Amino acid sequence: MPRPVLVTYTTKYGSTAQVASAVATVLGDQGLEVDLHPAREVRSLEQYRAVVLGAPIFIGSLQREARRFLDRQREALSSRPVALFALGPTRKEDDWNAAREQFEKEVAKVAWLTPIAHEMFGGRYDPTTLRFPDSLLARLPASPLYGQPASDVRDWDAIRAWAVSLAGLLPPEA
Ligand SMILES: Cc1cc2nc3c(=O)[nH]c(=O)nc-3n(C[C@H](O)[C@H](O)[C@H](O)COP(=O)(O)O)c2cc1C
Repeated sequence: MPRPVLVTYTTKYGSTAQVASAVATVLGDQGLEVDLHPAREVRSLEQYRAVVLGAPIFIGSLQREARRFLDRQREALSSRPVALFALGPTRKEDDWNAAREQFEKEVAKVAWLTPIAHEMFGGRYDPTTLRFPDSLLARLPASPLYGQPASDVRDWDAIRAWAVSLAGLLPPEA
């Protein structure tokens, strides 16, 4: 049996989970065995030949749960191909270059990790679903979220194209 690739993710409001699911579907379509699990449910990586981790960016940092996953699984991740994706800007008019720079810094902070690929995509925002303290933050006039309407700028074509390219980057099974 070929060993599976794990697609795992952290999410607060569900949009990263949907992107992870799309990535897993594409990898499956490319002929790979794929498992899809939220990071909090992942105990061991032993059975996996490679790992794709997706996480949203919140206030300039990868979601804490994703950083914790990386710490917790450091040893296993160090000996496998790892790809990362993040969800960030939620409007076309956001400063995507600044968001990309933030993401690059976040990746660089994990100094022991050299991902085979990393990419940032647009995200989804809905002020009506925010939970505390995000709901409070969004009501502060000084916050970049203040008055921001609901939006979804996830580019599914770009997401699928990235997943196809990822399949080509994975080393063949030993
Ligand atoms: C409180 C809050 C803070 C955010 N901060 C950032 C940020 O600093 N940079 C960014 O690019 N996107 C930021 N976002 C956008 C999220 O990354 C985006 O909404 C993402 O799709 C959320 O993922 P989820 O639905 O999986 O939780 C923020 C969103 C919220 C609600």
